Amino acid sequence: MASAMLAANSQRYQGKVTIVTGGSAGIGFGVVSVFVQHGAKVVFCDLKSKEDEGKAKAVELNAKGPGECIFFCCDMTVESQIKDLIGFTVSQYGQIDCVVNNAGAHPPHKPIDDFSAEDLENLHRLNVTGYYLMSKYSLPHLRKTQGNIINNCSLVAQISQREAVPYVTTKGAVLSMTKALALDEAENNVRVNSFSPGNVLTPMWEQAAIASGNYDEAIEIGRNEQPMGRYGTIEECGLLCLFLATDATFCTGININITGGAELGYGRKTRKE
Ligand SMILES: NC(=O)c1ccc[n+]([C@@H]2O[C@H](COP(=O)([O-])OP(=O)(O)OC[C@H]3O[C@@H](n4cnc5c(N)ncnc54)[C@H](O)[C@@H]3O)[C@@H](O)[C@H]2O)c1
Repeated sequence: MASAMLAANSQRYQGKVTIVTGGSAGIGFGVVSVFVQHGAKVVFCDLKSKEDEGKAKAVELNAKGPGECIFFCCDMTVESQIKDLIGFTVSQYGQIDCVVNNAGAHPPHKPIDDFSAEDLENLHRLNVTGYYLMSKYSLPHLRKTQGNIINNCSLVAQISQREAVPYVTTKGAVLSMTKALALDEAENNVRVNSFSPGNVLTPMWEQAAIASGNYDEAIEIGRNEQPMGRYGTIEECGLLCLFLATDATFCTGININITGGAELGYGRKTRKE
């Protein structure tokens, strides 16, 4: 993107130590890329299955600089691994300035009848408890640097989504957790904010399109859900996170939509006959 490239020369987050969860692909990778372009030192994690991809992408980003990044294996549903991720970052760089909670999942769309309590709890373990534990264990370090937490929420926390009750509840929890933590941590000068993507074309979105049975049609429908007539990009999400981390110094407890206007106006909301 032209704007990202122009801003890339300004190193807006030079030397700042940032952890991004789920950074091997999708929006997380967009955040890692933009932060490295702006001079940050980034530790990003992903599942063991994404280790090769993460390490290969780290080599590419480090070759370009001017910041740097390291891949670290961490399953965000495992508390001991979350502690290891934070311990590794502090041993490597001595501090933490920013945490971007991003790793999340969206199960295939189904009515509530077909989701068990276990399905709901397992999804909360990643989408909510993962964010919670990552925040809890990094806060002692963020208080020292007067750093900030950025939570990747979702537009569906506000407008909901068909046949996705478990996912929508997790994102509602993230929206509320952001405000509750922001309130508590303001006196420590730690800011806590969230951003809410609408449709950003990532591996997650593409998997959903494949699961629909008609990939091309699903992609076209998704594109037309935005008045702007396109999907958001992972780089645009990265730039929004950079704004929250660097410029938004009097903002805490806020949520910023990055949706191409998807929540605006009336549209047909009933099923076709
Ligand atoms: N893509 C969208 O349109 C969209 C919209 C709204 C919100 N979001 C949110 O953005 C975040 C990222 O979504 P995405 O579309 O980039 O997804 P994605 O699946 O393309 O990428 C997510 C990354 O997180 C990793 N991950 C998954 N489970 C993990 C775990 N247990 N531990 C560590 N890493 C794990 C995946 O391996 C992957 O690399 C999610 O929280 C999602 O809810 C996405």
